[in-house]
Amino acid sequence: MLNKEEKLKKIQDIKKEYGEDLLILAHHYQNNDIVSLADYTGDSLKLAKYAQENKKAKYVVFCGVHFMAETADILTEDWQKVLLPAGGAGCPMADMANLAEAETAWEVLKIEFDKDLLPVTYVNSRADIKAFCGSKGGSTVTSGNAPKVMEWALSQNKIVLFLPDRHLGENTAYELGIEPKNMAIYNRKTQKVEYECPKEDVRIVLWDGYCHVHHAITVKHIEQARNSLPEAKIIVHPECPFDVVRAADGYGSTEYLINTVKNAPAGSSWVVGTESNLVARVKAQNTDKQVYILDTHSVCTNMNKTNLDNLLETLEDIKNNNFSKQVKVSKDIAEDAVKSLDTMLELC
Ligand code: 13P
Ligand code: SF4
Repeated sequence: MLNKEEKLKKIQDIKKEYGEDLLILAHHYQNNDIVSLADYTGDSLKLAKYAQENKKAKYVVFCGVHFMAETADILTEDWQKVLLPAGGAGCPMADMANLAEAETAWEVLKIEFDKDLLPVTYVNSRADIKAFCGSKGGSTVTSGNAPKVMEWALSQNKIVLFLPDRHLGENTAYELGIEPKNMAIYNRKTQKVEYECPKEDVRIVLWDGYCHVHHAITVKHIEQARNSLPEAKIIVHPECPFDVVRAADGYGSTEYLINTVKNAPAGSSWVVGTESNLVARVKAQNTDKQVYILDTHSVCTNMNKTNLDNLLETLEDIKNNNFSKQVKVSKDIAEDAVKSLDTMLELC
């Protein structure tokens, strides 16, 4: 059994040996050990761009969840291998929309509205959902560029089908001036679309998916923070419910949350509503400020599945030409999925 220092040393030695042939990417929700070993850390948007721009690494080790590794695979060249250290690291929200459900929804909405539709999917989605969007002229979106992509989508005089995160869709559309009454919800269980305004006033249909980590944050958490820390500013991730985002002082991607605190004046106080690894690191990196987590239960167990053991195992596998941890999107899916990713990356 190796101790922590021995594992760290072994990983660093393999990194040195492989040099530019190896790229380690880590999402901001990864733990400190993993972040300390990464070549780059970022939000989903930044990581997708790092993967797309790197034309040197034969091996891209993605410390994050499955949809992120799939995105990296779609955006890298065929000769580059993307590996995910923790095999079971999925994203429950991404799994809330599968291709059969999306195809059913498309037919339901076509009959319901008798108007052109445009699909937009959060990158937190399966590759076949990205392909579904790409094949229909739609785009992907991340929390880091949601307003820009949504503006593009809404300007096309079509009904936007936004999937799978209801909250990101609702929060972004509202920011662009769409009233909640003009947003419909697609209920994937009943396969029915629900709305209260006249049919011709519906601008966007929101899939009813959500991230359980952010969905659990409530206005009560905001009220408690306001009472106990009246001087603090509260910032949250846009995967939080609409009323939470409205009650907060600001919202944005993980990169936004980090930079907002980093750029704030010394002595200021911040309450951050997102995953706990990120908030703990922001706190440790901003000792001249007070930093608190909005909901102490905000833990993404999937992001936490990556550890020194499975990272080391992945690198040793590479040395042994064992690619069992490779994430490979099939060619037919990747061909359409890349269209929706390219649309987003060209817009932003
Ligand atoms: P970001 O794109 O803001 O990093 O968010 C990804 C994610 O999974 C948040 O739950
Ligand atoms: Fe998925 Fe939520 Fe975890 Fe992000 S925090 S990876 S959306 S489950």
